[in-house]
Amino acid sequence: MRVSWKELYESSMNCQDCQLCKFRNNVVVGSGNMNADIMFVGEGPGHDEDIQGLPFVGPAGQLLTKMINAIELDRKDVYIANIVKCRPPQNRVPLEEEALACIPKLRAQVALVSPKIIVCLGATAAKYVYDKDVRITKDRGNWKNKKGVWIIPTYHPSALLRDPSKKYDAWEDFKSIKAKLNEI
Ligand code: URA
Repeated sequence: MRVSWKELYESSMNCQDCQLCKFRNNVVVGSGNMNADIMFVGEGPGHDEDIQGLPFVGPAGQLLTKMINAIELDRKDVYIANIVKCRPPQNRVPLEEEALACIPKLRAQVALVSPKIIVCLGATAAKYVYDKDVRITKDRGNWKNKKGVWIIPTYHPSALLRDPSKKYDAWEDFKSIKAKLNEI
């Protein structure tokens, strides 16, 4: 069944489908253009996102914004969401049961936004959206078409902050995203 944005927000605000609900200050559903051609998917909210109720607003988010701007787009042109909508304690990787409990919400967002391109930011997003056996170092930059939607994995901006030597490859991926957007 196709849900509306209103239904998605209401069910998210009251969600108790996994234990992450016990730790949250805010449910971070997503932000941006609800009819975007490009959707970015991260792992899950961190400290700043949990406080503000918005995705990618901390240091990784600031870098993501710069990368989006570098391909001549604005954050308001794209839609941004995460695999899990509530912050995992100490920013740990979401457990499989948490990710699987939350994935129907991401699927509903994809159905509503209907993007042409989905960018998976990091291994967790790529595992649940691109390929369950993904190896981010090997698979980043490789496009796959699933049900008419082009999907590309790239490094998570936090990984780029930890290891700036990965920025060259990430920039190649972003140029490829821009080229794909112009082509389709
Ligand atoms: N990291 C993520 O994966 N998502 C956010 O929203 C913020 C940081």
